[in-house]
Amino acid sequence: MSYTEFSRRKFLQYTAFGAIASALPGLSRSEERLINKDPDHNLKADVELELHARTAEVPILPGAKTHVFQYTGKLLKGPTQTIKTLPGYLGPILNFERGQKIRIFFYNHINEPVITHWHGMHVPQKMDGHPMYEIYNGERYVYEFEIDNPASTYWYHSHTHDMTATQVYQGLAGMITVRDAEEQKLALPADDYEIPLIIQDRQFTAGNQFQYLHGMHRRMIGFLGDTILVNGQAGSVIPVKTRAYRLRLLNGSNSRIYKLGWSDGTPLTVIGTDGGLLEKPGTMPYVMLAPAERLELWMDFTGRDIGSDLTLQSLDYKGGGPQMGGMGGMRGRGRGGMMGGGLAQGKAFPVITFNIAEKTGDSPALPDKLVTIKRLSAKDLTHPDKTVPIAIGMRHMTFQLNGRTFSMYDHLDIERIPVDSIQKIRIFHDNDMGSGGMRGGRGMGMMGMMHSMPHPIHLHGQQFQIVSRKQNSSSSAYDTVKEGFIHSGWKDTVLVMPGEEIEIIKPFQHFTGLFLYHCHNLEHEDMGMMRNFEIY
Ligand code: C2O
Ligand code: CU
Ligand code: CU
Repeated sequence: MSYTEFSRRKFLQYTAFGAIASALPGLSRSEERLINKDPDHNLKADVELELHARTAEVPILPGAKTHVFQYTGKLLKGPTQTIKTLPGYLGPILNFERGQKIRIFFYNHINEPVITHWHGMHVPQKMDGHPMYEIYNGERYVYEFEIDNPASTYWYHSHTHDMTATQVYQGLAGMITVRDAEEQKLALPADDYEIPLIIQDRQFTAGNQFQYLHGMHRRMIGFLGDTILVNGQAGSVIPVKTRAYRLRLLNGSNSRIYKLGWSDGTPLTVIGTDGGLLEKPGTMPYVMLAPAERLELWMDFTGRDIGSDLTLQSLDYKGGGPQMGGMGGMRGRGRGGMMGGGLAQGKAFPVITFNIAEKTGDSPALPDKLVTIKRLSAKDLTHPDKTVPIAIGMRHMTFQLNGRTFSMYDHLDIERIPVDSIQKIRIFHDNDMGSGGMRGGRGMGMMGMMHSMPHPIHLHGQQFQIVSRKQNSSSSAYDTVKEGFIHSGWKDTVLVMPGEEIEIIKPFQHFTGLFLYHCHNLEHEDMGMMRNFEIY
């Protein structure tokens, strides 16, 4: 389906909805949308900025420019470092401080509805970018909220109904950093020594245009491109000095899951996860980074030879779901040949190369303690005997959560959660095939293999902690990923592998209303693998 067809289908859908809505007494489409058009003049903002979603032509590959969607920013008030523009198609990096009151005037100049979500941030429903608030070309949405998240790496992206995958794919995403006093005391590498790494995969046509996937089966697997872009650029090499760096990683891909490791086998030093720094640095052979997850690494290049290279790679792994390459999938028209087949989920490839360019002796030492984290446990639960389910299932060629697909305002009784409570949530596969799914491959039908897909499950609102992780099937595929999960630290997205059952504890404080939870494989999300929690 082309983008135009996509938009047209969308338009027809709206027309149909409009007709139904006007037929219902007292309900019109404009009332239904309740968009926040105007600022609250009583609220004094520390930071004010404009964010525009527009179409643009940007150079990515040599030759023709690429047509993209792009966020651009303009600072109206606040510290000058608030907005940092990146070359390429990604939105600017927004640098905030905990406690700041933020006002963002968001303008949509694209011929599709758009709404923007601040992924990982704890904000009121109206400020969270729920698809019910989408705005049309020429409209404005005013976001006002206070930054109340710990220092970490977050991000923003479009969250439009049915169109999150295509809009993020075309460029509507950017990084957010939050700083706070506890983190500043650590004096971690900053400025030139703090490097954002936004990782995405794309597929290009011979004319350098983004090519999206086609067909139902492709959508069920999710988009997998054969060109890895970091910060919107392909094949770039980052020059570094012989000292320590802070690397902020964001997996901004639609569906690709990375298994990150250094090319020379140096273990990774992890200092932070989605929602904050860890209590202390941890050493891991590799880390799994699923769509929407963030990771902060400490990397010390001290002692390396000038002129030498070190590459962050994605390593081979299994259990990533059906491999389309050999299944007679569609042939990409671009340089990639078989789409996905060229770079299937779980295949190895380089992500980004660092070149040791300059000698220096000013490297800071890795702190052995980072921040204090209040560990959540059973005794913190508001209802110790109650568990909120998130059941991953499949029916009628689509993925479901708790037996349902997304519907704008819909929520079940089990999806109603009292405000200011702390809940245990169990995320699991609600079918037998899921537990045996890691076997994958031969002998299973397409549907069987779809049951063996990993799903990065994301919950809006406050960050959560992982309390247990259980693999219900013994499988050698799981052995290829199991050392790459971080269990300590604050998370808003957790990768649920086939056969896995994960328990988390999550606070639901301060704000009532509808807050989404969904699979962050963006194709799955747009297929309806998303639901609302109603916080009441
Ligand atoms: Cu990254 Cu519902 O969002
Ligand atoms: Cu989110
Ligand atoms: Cu999924």
